Amino acid sequence: MSEQTVFSKALFESELSAGRKKNTEILSSVDSTNTYLKNLCKNRDMESGYSVIANSQTNGRGRLGKSFLSKGGVGIYLSYLFNVENVEPLKIPTLTAWCAVAVKNAVEAMCPVNCKIKWVNDIVYGGLKIAGILTETVFDAQSGKPKYAVVGIGINVNNSKSDIPKELEDKAVSLKIICGKEICREKLAAILIKELDKISDAFPENKEYYLSEYRKNCAVIGKKVTLRQQDTELSGTAMGIDGDFGLVLKKDGGELFTVTFGDVSVEGFYGH
Ligand code: BTN
Repeated sequence: MSEQTVFSKALFESELSAGRKKNTEILSSVDSTNTYLKNLCKNRDMESGYSVIANSQTNGRGRLGKSFLSKGGVGIYLSYLFNVENVEPLKIPTLTAWCAVAVKNAVEAMCPVNCKIKWVNDIVYGGLKIAGILTETVFDAQSGKPKYAVVGIGINVNNSKSDIPKELEDKAVSLKIICGKEICREKLAAILIKELDKISDAFPENKEYYLSEYRKNCAVIGKKVTLRQQDTELSGTAMGIDGDFGLVLKKDGGELFTVTFGDVSVEGFYGH
């Protein structure tokens, strides 16, 4: 087996502001950083900003029960904790969209291309996926109310073409493939953590910047899409993003409606 590149805690910390008080755990391997962080914060009071980064995951998870390719030494597998006790429950899922803007900013700081956001949680370039986000809520054992949101972010960073399995060839891409050079994962992770810290300070009140960046960079607007929600499927045209990051669709019959969850497939994306 070939040697795996390690994720250097020292380099990562030197790239983060020296004064950052919040803890980031660096693990060499874990099943899933989201599962790890969810277990850590159950029955415990923890601060927003606690985060976990793993060099590899053995069971990286995506939305809708899908898996997330988590080869060791090449990607970023990161989970970040937000305390959401005082956030209106309906606003919690919008964290995914806010964090999509953070991931886009961090990726573009390291690889100067214009990437886009595929509603709601994917960062894409040329119709191929660079990164995905999985937000999971942890409920308070006593009150049953939402206490934390664990936002998990996976980025394809230094994957070579040969690291991308055949079935994902027309769906996924890495920053190394796009930029034609290796990217420093530690520096990218530090920039991303700083972007997430800004969200931790701003969420949910100061949404204007995130909403306007999301709208400007949402790749699906104006496109024909098919929406899947559990057992239902319908098609229409994506018209815009509403004030709560919902996707406004015009059904083929002309009727407008807004969706807040589900999966969209878009012509020209991921082999569709
Ligand atoms: C998706 O593409 O549907 C979301 C992918 C999210 C992957 C990240 S990697 C870090 C964190 N741990 C996981 O198991 N999943 C998220």
